Amino acid sequence: MNLSFLVQLTYIVASVLFAFGLKLLASPVSARRGNQLSALGMLLAVIATLAGHHMIGYQWILLGLVIGSALGAFVAVKAAMTQMPEMVALLHGCGALGSVCVDWVHYLKLQHQPVFVIGSVEAFMLFLSIVIGGLTFTGSLIAWGKLSERIPGRPILFPWQQIVNLLLAGGILLSGVLFLLQPARIDFFYIFLTLSFIFGILLVIPIGGADMPVVISVLNSYSGVVACTTGFVINNTLLIVVGALVGANGIILSVIMCKAMNRSLTNVLFGGFGAAKKKSGVGVKKEVHSASVEDAALILEAAHSVVVAPGYGLAVAQAQHAVRELSQELEKNGAEVRYAIHPVAGRMPGHMNVLLAEANIPYDQLVEMEHINPIMDTVDVCIVIGANDTVNPAALNDKSSPIYGMPIIETFRAKTVFVIKRSMAAGFAGIDNELFYNDNTLMIFGDAKDIVQKLAAEFKNK
Ligand code: TAP
Repeated sequence: MNLSFLVQLTYIVASVLFAFGLKLLASPVSARRGNQLSALGMLLAVIATLAGHHMIGYQWILLGLVIGSALGAFVAVKAAMTQMPEMVALLHGCGALGSVCVDWVHYLKLQHQPVFVIGSVEAFMLFLSIVIGGLTFTGSLIAWGKLSERIPGRPILFPWQQIVNLLLAGGILLSGVLFLLQPARIDFFYIFLTLSFIFGILLVIPIGGADMPVVISVLNSYSGVVACTTGFVINNTLLIVVGALVGANGIILSVIMCKAMNRSLTNVLFGGFGAAKKKSGVGVKKEVHSASVEDAALILEAAHSVVVAPGYGLAVAQAQHAVRELSQELEKNGAEVRYAIHPVAGRMPGHMNVLLAEANIPYDQLVEMEHINPIMDTVDVCIVIGANDTVNPAALNDKSSPIYGMPIIETFRAKTVFVIKRSMAAGFAGIDNELFYNDNTLMIFGDAKDIVQKLAAEFKNK
């Protein structure tokens, strides 16, 4: 068995591991195993690639590996759960930059051959790879900056922005065509490389910080496409397969997120949401009913069926452990406790699943929106913790609302609803919530962790 055959065989094994890894990521029960399988696939891929190339300078690779791994581990350990979206943005950006560097070095190597030879497909893929990789890198950096509030999260607009974007796109295309006609001309290469970096910045700055999770998912998909095109450039089948998997997954995830927000991908990427943001879901100011922790504990004591609807505020307050504690007290009291999971609750895909898993809340208590809604009428108490838009009935009955058409957790149909939040402030969509004014809703104002801890303590003392 020669080395090249062994490398290709390992590539196939790694591809299968990646595909199965992705499949297992679809459920919280198997997600951890999916991650491990994919990581094993990556390890095999790295070993096979290093073994398959008779390279000199392994010491540089080792140095890069040590520095990269140390930095990665440090950032991952340090990042709080609420910082995950910005960290993902940074990682995708680095992946795209890595692909750009591989393409760039490949092109420079060709330039240093005695005779410059490049096929037309290879040149086209090189062009695509540099353009998508370049804009993904700088776009991801901007997304990271917006989410971490290093740059303003609001849409950044300037006069003639669309014209400038069109000119940039035109410049990239023109230099690309000239490059394809004369691929040995390195000046054309550097022109579209530079313009792509600038284009990425200009594409992302007009998008509001709150839309960044969808943008990140789209950029994630682009980083997969770049890996795929780089695979064509350097003739590496594993990169082609893995890049295609990441590209397809990223775009599917973006579409799922948009659907759950009842928006189109073009609406997210090219604006339109900000204008509708300030609209109110409730015309006249109405009274809300508020309750104390003691009142709430009394009602909960009589409840047989309790549903918790968590949202972004749960993540902000880091109330997940307190929620588990309260659930355990309720269960001891004979109540059945379930968690209603909205696909876009929080600020990143699977945000609530990750938080609740962190607190060791059993997976079988997590119920998807479409399964909890049909039984909501039978629920005695629904506790909304730091959720707002994802439980706003305006999405069902107010055609003028910017969130009209978005599926929601229908908490308003429970016999009693508790809403735990700090104030009457709006959520992500910036609109009022008619749920808060319903007769069967009791507002419990305060920080989610503090209130839930007090509720649990109230039960313990009984
Ligand atoms: P939101 O509508 O964002 O509302 C969160 C609520 O949490 C706020 O009204 C806030 O009210 C409350 N809150 C904040 N900190 C709190 C704390 N320490 N204690 C208690 N409450 C606190 O949340 P949601 O229902 O999860 O909806 C998510 C929104 O994000 C949707 O509009 C969705 O479309 C959007 N979005 C989601 C994603 C993904 S992938 N998940 C991506 C992009 C956009 P107070 O300030 O009054 O406390």
